Amino acid sequence: MACTGVGFSKNLSNARVMRAFVNGKDVVIWRSRSGKLSAWENRCPHRGMRLSYGFVRGEALACMYHGWHYGVDGKCKYIPAHPNLEPPKTIQIQRYSSCEKDGVIWVSEGIEANTPEIPAGLFPIRSMELHCSADVLKNTLCGLTSASLENDQPVFHVTDEQEDVMYIDIPKRKFALCFILQNFPHSRCFIHVLSERECAPRDKKWISRVLERLRRIAENRTGEAT
Ligand code: FES
Repeated sequence: MACTGVGFSKNLSNARVMRAFVNGKDVVIWRSRSGKLSAWENRCPHRGMRLSYGFVRGEALACMYHGWHYGVDGKCKYIPAHPNLEPPKTIQIQRYSSCEKDGVIWVSEGIEANTPEIPAGLFPIRSMELHCSADVLKNTLCGLTSASLENDQPVFHVTDEQEDVMYIDIPKRKFALCFILQNFPHSRCFIHVLSERECAPRDKKWISRVLERLRRIAENRTGEAT
């Protein structure tokens, strides 16, 4: 089962929770106070509340509705309304496999760990949310390979593309980027940008400017299509 890149490790600090979508499935990703990473179905087994609204309590994630606590093994550990009850072992959340490589968090369905399909040694630059689908973004990127995002000059070329990973060469700046695309429902997506080398601050500013223009073009296309 393929991995989905859901964000950068640096953006999920200890004791924090985030939401992602993996193959269309709603997933909660969280780090315990000691830093253990977990990815689960984003649904509390009690009454179905989204666990991404929950709070980290030490090595457990607490649902915000009735406060049930779930340990990193996905099992219920504590029910506040019945503090002396040992929760039945059958109360358990569906877990996903998760791992971190080169500063990216990867999640896949099932509990078998998968290896991410990008080269090692890339440097995370930034993430950006776009109000368009990943397909529109991809088509926009491919359609712009010989067009301009900066002063009417070709600035990048798509050198390789996989399902949700694209490699972009930027000859003028003498570096290459990797774009990890992550689909969200309702015509939204995230783009996570990595560089093959550490970028100087001025390069990061340039990348942000280009991404902003790319975002506007892709979102305008979505607007025109609806
Ligand atoms: S819905 Fe989560 S504890 Fe009740």
